[in-house]
Amino acid sequence: MTNPQLNKNGELQHLLTTEGLPAGILLEILDKAETFVDIDDGPEIRKVPLLHGKSVFNVFFENSTRTRTTFEIAAKRLSADVVNLNIGSSSTSKGETLLDTVDNLCAMHADMFVVRHAQSGASHFIAKHVAPNVHVINAGDGRHAHPTQALLDMYTIRHYKKYFHNLRVAIVGDVLHSRVARSQIHALTTLGVPEVRVIAPKTLLPTMVENLGVQVYHDMTGGLQDVDVIMMLRLQNERMQGAALPSAQEYFKYYGLTEEKLARAKPDAIVMHPGPMNRGIEIESSVADGKQSVILPQVTFGIAVRMAVMSILAGVKV
Ligand code: CP
Repeated sequence: MTNPQLNKNGELQHLLTTEGLPAGILLEILDKAETFVDIDDGPEIRKVPLLHGKSVFNVFFENSTRTRTTFEIAAKRLSADVVNLNIGSSSTSKGETLLDTVDNLCAMHADMFVVRHAQSGASHFIAKHVAPNVHVINAGDGRHAHPTQALLDMYTIRHYKKYFHNLRVAIVGDVLHSRVARSQIHALTTLGVPEVRVIAPKTLLPTMVENLGVQVYHDMTGGLQDVDVIMMLRLQNERMQGAALPSAQEYFKYYGLTEEKLARAKPDAIVMHPGPMNRGIEIESSVADGKQSVILPQVTFGIAVRMAVMSILAGVKV
């Protein structure tokens, strides 16, 4: 089956999902990101001209703090012209279709779209529609995929743990509604992590989740035992239909990451969260702000990873 993200030479044309992406492409992105981390790490902000003359359109139909902002910073550091479309005040509110909006932005010479949408598949839909010289990056579509979040997570894991082949990783929480979890699982298994666990109540797990190559746990006690990496998830209340949980307090009691539960993991385990965090529900503040937390470095690495994705898509060699 052909991969709609790859061109006929097997190169990345769009970034829509981590599913089906070869390990070589994932590693190319992580390695390229390494070259950008220094640019982002000094007293002065430096820019490189790799996207000079290109226009990047951030089109976010859902709210975002981290993803939209770090894409904007990344594009500016690559010297692109960046346009943030304010969907609330755009003509979509007057009934314009998604593709008409995209056509109009292409008429303004958009080179790259960064798209977040509540509908799974929205980025694929746009990618199939645009001209071959236009690139689409999925910044989160429904409960389907959030590939740059997974890539910055992989970058963070490699930064702290060096290798993937010897790790035990636990993903904790609302796997059912999480595009982040799906993208993380595909990336972790492709990169050779031998043991990926998901820890969640039955109501927050997709059916047949084992088919993704993960081990299922319903309790933190067993699930966190001797893990190297803990990836917490946000409860996606906006995507829940009906009562998937008895209460936030009950959820915290069984699935919130506390210092006591963290002690089951290896002493040097790292704690991750894609944000936004619900303190006191998904994670205890002393853990979120504790010495094993790498939650804020994840955000910083996201800039370099998004620079890497955009520069690879633009076909510009560093
Ligand atoms: N992790 C993440 O997607 O955060 P935002 O919703 O703030 O972009």
